[in-house]
Amino acid sequence: MPAHKSSTTFKLSTGASIPAVGLGTWQSSQSEVYDAVLAALESGYRHIDTAYAYLNEEAVGKAIKDSGIPREQIFVTTKLAAVQQLDPTSALNDSLKRLDLDYVDLYLMHWPVALNPNNKSHPLIPILPNGDRDVLHDFDFIDSYKVLQELADQGKTKAIGVSNFSIKNLTRLLEHPSTTIKPVVNQVELHPYLPQNELLEFTKKHEILLEAYSPLGSTNSPLLTDETIVKIAKNHNVSPATILISWAVWRGTVVLPKSVTPSRIESNFLVVDLTSEEGKQLDNIHKEKGIKRLINPKWSKIDVFTEV
Ligand code: A2P
Repeated sequence: MPAHKSSTTFKLSTGASIPAVGLGTWQSSQSEVYDAVLAALESGYRHIDTAYAYLNEEAVGKAIKDSGIPREQIFVTTKLAAVQQLDPTSALNDSLKRLDLDYVDLYLMHWPVALNPNNKSHPLIPILPNGDRDVLHDFDFIDSYKVLQELADQGKTKAIGVSNFSIKNLTRLLEHPSTTIKPVVNQVELHPYLPQNELLEFTKKHEILLEAYSPLGSTNSPLLTDETIVKIAKNHNVSPATILISWAVWRGTVVLPKSVTPSRIESNFLVVDLTSEEGKQLDNIHKEKGIKRLINPKWSKIDVFTEV
């Protein structure tokens, strides 16, 4: 079959459906994101991913409203920022107000780390005099996850999940006696240079979906000129981005390509059916190129990506 609009949905462990391809909005400014979300919804996307920390929730919500598409047909995710960890209830209430929505479909803990909200040096990333991020080292993400569970019970979010969680942190969360609602997803950086094979195997076993952020390799991506990806793209007469998006769906992961360019937004909603041979070639790229994490914020002394 030639390139076609994605119609794949996955099931969350709550039973709800989530469209496999969603619009990513990290680094999309308020002024850009309004048109981007409208273009995406016009192209057929029904899944929009935002976060408090992207500082664009108001424009995302306005575009959703202005699209005229019934609310229940759109899957909306937002996230609890590190600086909001001590008060998830106010954080979600404020996000809902900015989005002008009664509920979100998914609320994610953005990082397993808290930043000091009383340090006013920066609204999102407070810094200590020595330049390090003001991380609350005594913070335990278990405590804010407890509140996320309450928010799910109240219906303010239909589901809860996490982001940037390692196997070690997920294991701790799943095994903790206070965890009564399993995270439905873990959103992480995911592409052929960082295929996250162990994490994928672990999350599949626990019925947690992996969601791919920066699936194209973010800004100035080396993936878009990778010879294996370019060759497979030529075979299908599509862009390298379409191959990266198709590969993510082929592996059973949600994929969140970001763009503010209408033509790219439209083409990023197209997928091709990869052969198993092509899938394997993409799976194997990292063996030759090495593992490359492209997004790696410095959380003071904490390495959130450390595995067991
Ligand atoms: P722009 O938003 O200006 O269109 P990721 O999703 O991995 O974070 O990648 C986002 C980056 O990739 C942005 O710089 C975005 O640019 C660019 N991008 C998005 N879609 C495509 C595409 N189809 N081809 C090339 N670059 C793209």
